[in-house]
Amino acid sequence: MTTELAGKQLLIVAGSSGIGRQLAQDAVDQGAQVTITGRSADAVQAVAASIEGTVATAVVDLSNEESIAELADELSRREVVVEHLISLANAPAKAPVEKLEREAIVRAFDAKVIGALLLVKHLRPTVSVTLFSGIVAWRPKAGMAVTATTNGAVAFLAQTLAVELAPVRVNAVSPGIIDSGAWDGVGKDKLFADTAARNPARRIGTTRDVSTAVLAAITNPFLTGTVLHLDGGARLV
Ligand SMILES: NC(=O)c1ccc[n+]([C@@H]2O[C@H](COP(=O)([O-])OP(=O)(O)OC[C@H]3O[C@@H](n4cnc5c(N)ncnc54)[C@H](OP(=O)(O)O)[C@@H]3O)[C@@H](O)[C@H]2O)c1
Repeated sequence: MTTELAGKQLLIVAGSSGIGRQLAQDAVDQGAQVTITGRSADAVQAVAASIEGTVATAVVDLSNEESIAELADELSRREVVVEHLISLANAPAKAPVEKLEREAIVRAFDAKVIGALLLVKHLRPTVSVTLFSGIVAWRPKAGMAVTATTNGAVAFLAQTLAVELAPVRVNAVSPGIIDSGAWDGVGKDKLFADTAARNPARRIGTTRDVSTAVLAAITNPFLTGTVLHLDGGARLV
């Protein structure tokens, strides 16, 4: 199939997450050369094997700069020049402030903010960077101070990197509630029903809703420094 993504190199960090896996599948379907990463080689290889088509895998832990530098070396050994970098990494620290542990807070910032900066530092993507924010930055909730703050930081990071890395384009994607697997086992039926009843879109999101928007964003040459809200309008109500 000939598409704008045919032959393009995509690196999807945390590509074994629900949204990341869908993105990898859809990018491969459009002819892209895709590498997905996880923190465990076995786990990420299992996800790659579940994708129809060819997906390369690599290992990286964003809480460790050496691991990020090793990923850059490994990709260079494979002669992969990262054109589009997408990071979905997320290590949420959800708790009331009085119960928050410093290590959990740092892990959350490593996954979304510090890790994103270090990925850009070591990988030098040549066309676009897409970072994952999230609705709670715009709709604060008790117990979500760290998640809201990391997601908010991602939005500001995207706009400042868009200026610094130009003409490489940098955007953030802010999902609302998405049926990605992340909510399985945490009372998702009630959460999904309540969210769908309130959202202007009157439903929750699918991983495909997000992957379609990411692929549109990375191929749009005039889109940079912005946040794409994929939340069914949830932040408005
Ligand atoms: N699903 C939603 O409703 C929703 C809503 C708002 C925002 N988002 C955002 O959308 C993105 C994807 O969400 P999702 O639901 O598909 O996935 P997710 O369940 O949040 O998974 C994120 C992945 O991040 C990886 N990770 C955690 N710490 C890491 C680290 N130090 N280094 C590298 N990777 C690390 C983990 O992968 P491994 O264990 O394989 O390494 C984990 O599977 C996330 O950024 C999330 O915050 C999602």
